[in-house]
Amino acid sequence: MSVDAAGTGTSGMTRRPVRDWATDFDHLSPEWAAHSPEITADLRQRCPVAHTERFYGAYLVTRYDDVVTVAHDTVAFSNRITAVNENRPENIRLEAPPITLDPPQHGPLRRALLPPFSPHAVRRLIPVTEAICDRALDALEGRTVADAAVDYAQIVPVEVTARLLGLPPEDGDRFRSWVKGILGDGLIDLDLAARCTREVRAFLAEHLAERRRRPTDDLISYVAHAEVDSDDGSTRPLGEREQLGVLYLLLVAGIDTTWSTIGSALHHLSTNAEHRRLLVETPSLIDAAVEEFLRYFAPITMGRIIEHDAVIAGCPVRAGERLLVGYPSANRDASQFEAPDEVILDRAHNRHLAFGVGPHRCLGSNLARMELKVALQRWLARFPDFEAAGEVVWTIGVRGPSTVPVRLG
Ligand code: HEM
Repeated sequence: MSVDAAGTGTSGMTRRPVRDWATDFDHLSPEWAAHSPEITADLRQRCPVAHTERFYGAYLVTRYDDVVTVAHDTVAFSNRITAVNENRPENIRLEAPPITLDPPQHGPLRRALLPPFSPHAVRRLIPVTEAICDRALDALEGRTVADAAVDYAQIVPVEVTARLLGLPPEDGDRFRSWVKGILGDGLIDLDLAARCTREVRAFLAEHLAERRRRPTDDLISYVAHAEVDSDDGSTRPLGEREQLGVLYLLLVAGIDTTWSTIGSALHHLSTNAEHRRLLVETPSLIDAAVEEFLRYFAPITMGRIIEHDAVIAGCPVRAGERLLVGYPSANRDASQFEAPDEVILDRAHNRHLAFGVGPHRCLGSNLARMELKVALQRWLARFPDFEAAGEVVWTIGVRGPSTVPVRLG
């Protein structure tokens, strides 16, 4: 996920084929989108810290233990820049706190945002999430085929996020095109990303101004009036730029990630009749199954900027270059997971890194888990016999299927 995709840029870039994934990787290529699990399995064996001269120089960390070490080392590996794309690092200046902050600034701002994402706050959103799922499923009644990604997975998180933020659900199509523009095609078309970022921020600025005048009980009002702890024990309100950056992050971080995982899970169930039947017949399996879908289909490989020369697993890495933290690759590391390339719905030990690890671990993980669980439960209750009706296409950036053709049964 590169939330700070905006900046100057070039569009319509043609991609040179990869010579060797260990020395010339390209995580924005269609080959990576389609085959990153196989590519990273090979790298974990023969070159756990891969490098590329593309993107002005970048590294890719693939093993579980190294990913954990890097994610905790905020001194050497900064979140100041989380995008690894054709933009020069020095041209990337977007503020999206807390993800673009390092300690000590990061903690206080993150803490201020925790209450609306607590388990208790998320539980209150279950009925509205169920209603959103049911409405999307009602629209499929009478049909024999559907696209489980477009007609369902891409609807649920958009509407839940809109509801949480207090934005009109009619704006769903605009959110979808903004999110795709920033985290999808925008990763290789930087002009598109810059335009979408400007539009989202202008849209959010308008709503923020309105909530400052007339607060309601939504998340925009919460952010507009949130207070951050200061060093001297007092508190301060968030500045206007901070508020805008936070809302921008919440909008882009929570949608595509969740829809990708719902889409991946439905894709898996559409191709595995045994797992589908197991989940229908044993509903209590759902929590473990959600964790396993998160592990197996983790959508986010996150970026960092290297602040000073360092060594990872014996490999020197250079200051000024960027680094990809391979959370999805870590999730398939055989040193941590038995049979890592198999989906085991009731996997007992599953300390996956789909939500990251360390200080930036996903703030919305309770919400994401709830959405995944409800979305899968409602779908399976309505269409217990659905099955695949075509090939899926995997997206670059946030990895998930852009289309999941299914026969509804
Ligand atoms: C399946 C869904 C999701 C996945 C896989 C996911 C994954 C991640 C990952 C890997 C990180 C860590 C980034 C890093 O290491 O720098 C992260 C951070 C974050 N996520 Fe999520 N996320 C999901 C859903 C959500 C949702 C629903 C929200 C809220 C609306 C959200 C909000 C955030 C925020 C605010 C951060 C930054 C936290 C910080 O910097 O302290 N995410 N997410």
